[in-house]
Amino acid sequence: MPCNAKRGENMEKNKRITLEPAYSLREFRILPRKTTLDNVISEISLKTRLCRKGDDFFYLNIPFVSAAMQAVSGTELAIALAQHGGISVIPCSIPVDEQVRIITDVKRYKAGFQEDVICFSPGSRIDDVISTIDRTGYFIFPVTENGSSKGNLLGIITDKDFTRKYKDNIVSDYMITELDVASERVSLSEANELMIKYRRGFLPIVDKNFNLKSVVFKKDLDKNINFPNELSDKNKRYCIAAAVSTQPGDRERIDALLEAGPEVIFVDASDGYSSFQADTLDYIKSRSDIPVVGGNIITYDGFMHLARSGFDAVKIGMGIGSGCITQETKGTGRGQATALMDAADARDDFHKKTDSYIPIIADGGISNTSHMAVAIAMGADAIMMGRYFVQYRESAAPQYRHKKHGFVKEYWMEASSKGRNYGRYDSSSDIFFEEGIEGYVPCIGKIHERKNLPETLLKIKSAMSSAACTTIDDMHRKCIVELQSVYSLADGAVHDMILK
Ligand code: IMP
Repeated sequence: MPCNAKRGENMEKNKRITLEPAYSLREFRILPRKTTLDNVISEISLKTRLCRKGDDFFYLNIPFVSAAMQAVSGTELAIALAQHGGISVIPCSIPVDEQVRIITDVKRYKAGFQEDVICFSPGSRIDDVISTIDRTGYFIFPVTENGSSKGNLLGIITDKDFTRKYKDNIVSDYMITELDVASERVSLSEANELMIKYRRGFLPIVDKNFNLKSVVFKKDLDKNINFPNELSDKNKRYCIAAAVSTQPGDRERIDALLEAGPEVIFVDASDGYSSFQADTLDYIKSRSDIPVVGGNIITYDGFMHLARSGFDAVKIGMGIGSGCITQETKGTGRGQATALMDAADARDDFHKKTDSYIPIIADGGISNTSHMAVAIAMGADAIMMGRYFVQYRESAAPQYRHKKHGFVKEYWMEASSKGRNYGRYDSSSDIFFEEGIEGYVPCIGKIHERKNLPETLLKIKSAMSSAACTTIDDMHRKCIVELQSVYSLADGAVHDMILK
């Protein structure tokens, strides 16, 4: 990336005090290069390497990772983000049972496959079926041996199979027992084809013993089938990641998580330039070959330390999260643009020396699309965000109606009084000081709404198109980024106009 950035190699030895400023992402702009048919928006791919995985990489279909924060990443967001091609990191500041439950729920979730549908038993009264139809508006029900949604499937009953005057009879008198079913391994689009073939609006999914697992309804298909970019594992289950701290007490958490089966583990520390990171990595790698991301670091040397320790990706950022007060309370941190430039230099040097590419993930202070584009241009392979994701309905945060701001989501940082993430900040309940605040952000609706994530991705692609880049790798190698003066930035914002 051509840029007159200063290098932070060996800062510890060379420069105890540096007078050159560190830069923020918001101070840079991308310069256009000649766009051709090769880099029109329809040709651009946002696919990216999140981390090493064996001899290859674990890829995301979009370069977005939701932050390991209580307010941000839970079941709903993890599913919604995976449907769009990104990944959520479930925080380690929640009890391990809860963290495992979220991972299990996401892994079990299959869009369009409804698990807990209303069922009847052969002995149920038609009267009950009629009142359920009147109450719910549903009119097709599986019939299982014991009437449970996981029972042995015997038939189906629909509103077409009886008339209301038979209300005192029982379900077995009218249920249909010749059934078209599908096995658990069927995908949503295969289920769709089967329903067309069987001319049915309803397909029970059963295991090999004919126990009911779920049901697919044709009417739900259109809204579920449309995720061409979804990020799923080889069993077509959504991908998810989980955080652990470096605290020795978290070893049991690691064991439980490895059982639950996330795709990636993030070793989560506010200051990851430590020997504890490598100890945690060794523990994980002694049990599994799961990819492990280390961090956070903000210097060239910090990257090299984690790369040499064997991490599969490194997360960059300190003191720049939206509600973070680390810089003010402790005086530690660094402008994210400079931190990223140093880490990207270190990554490329490490790659040249060892032939091993270790992706970097920009974390914190990025919620505006122009900052996302600049972060990628600075060398980020992926971007972790809290503020950006918390604003969606699917985030884990509670939603309130605020007197002044309408619908808002509560956003509390991990080192706020509410978050109390002792593991990440190396503190304890005896003595704890805040490094983050609690507040609200406006809620802007669901992630898939066109004006939300799809528009964000389009803006990034549009920036890439102007930079004549087709891939994220292109952005790292070819995109020209320029530091702006205060006046240039002022010109770049709205000026000399009265707003409507
Ligand atoms: P955001 O996207 O600007 O909201 O930043 C989210 C990132 O801030 C997280 O991924 C963490 O790296 C960082 N972070 C979370 N909680 C705290 C905190 O309490 N203090 C400082 N940084 C935090």
